[in-house]
Amino acid sequence: MSAVISESLCTGCGLCAKVCPSKCISVEEKAAVNDSRCLSCGHCGAVCLAGAVSSEGFKAFSVHDVEGLEVERILQGKRSVREFLPDAIPKEILSELVRYGEMAPSSRNTRGRKYFVVTGSRVTELEREVIAGLNSVAGPAAFLAPVLRLFSRKRVESLSSLKKLFSSMQSAFDSGKHPVLCGAPAVICIASPASNMQGKDDCVCSEQYLMLYAESIGVASCINGFTQIAHKNAERFLGVPKGYTIHAAVMLGYPKYSYKRYVRYGEDITWVE
Ligand SMILES: Cc1cc2nc3c(=O)[nH]c(=O)nc-3n(C[C@H](O)[C@H](O)[C@H](O)COP(=O)(O)O)c2cc1C
Repeated sequence: MSAVISESLCTGCGLCAKVCPSKCISVEEKAAVNDSRCLSCGHCGAVCLAGAVSSEGFKAFSVHDVEGLEVERILQGKRSVREFLPDAIPKEILSELVRYGEMAPSSRNTRGRKYFVVTGSRVTELEREVIAGLNSVAGPAAFLAPVLRLFSRKRVESLSSLKKLFSSMQSAFDSGKHPVLCGAPAVICIASPASNMQGKDDCVCSEQYLMLYAESIGVASCINGFTQIAHKNAERFLGVPKGYTIHAAVMLGYPKYSYKRYVRYGEDITWVE
């Protein structure tokens, strides 16, 4: 299900390699995909101006082939963006994003989510805390490995590969890169009361409203699962009141690259009629 790049259509511009989340495209004169790492996520197909990408996993088509409502444009065009321009997002716009996020449904009808808007150099400070949190989550795993191995070898292998990933993030961060928050000029974290059994769903609903509204005004976004994993560190850093948990974090900024195509994936539907 790997993406395939047509040699005759490829212009060698390299945009596909820049946006590829798994960094599996290399470009010499032409772009080529390393099949074993390709997720078939469609980013390369959506960004390619020449329409050189095809895949069994998705079909990329020109935005001009789509007629319909603005909402369709937003839903089809929204991508997870990880390369941002350095420009700050004005405070009024960030407030609007939160306003739309809070319009999302919540399990107790009372909304009641809390938003933490992080900007400028504070994003890098948050990233430092999140990476420290990730490494402390993975640390005990290595310590427990011999015991865990008795139960599941696979689990130990996946824990040790996570440990490697998190420590490589630490090294990248120490050398001035932004492996977790991708240099986003703003991050919004959303928290709900820990006592609410569906607090996570509440935060995710809000996150999606906020991201789609952002897309409609040209602000790109990407969910940040790592901040959720290391939420305790993020909560300490952000001063989240006791009794609240961060369940969602979104990176936001103006996109460095624009996607010119939409991508259609194969849907797995079971009709129960
Ligand atoms: C629960 C969840 C957590 C995610 N966490 C991250 C993350 O930590 N970092 C990141 O770059 N992308 C993250 N993503 C974005 C996915 O990787 C992204 O949706 C996928 O690459 C497909 O790209 P698309 O959204 O443009 O279709 C997350 C997505 C979800 C749903």
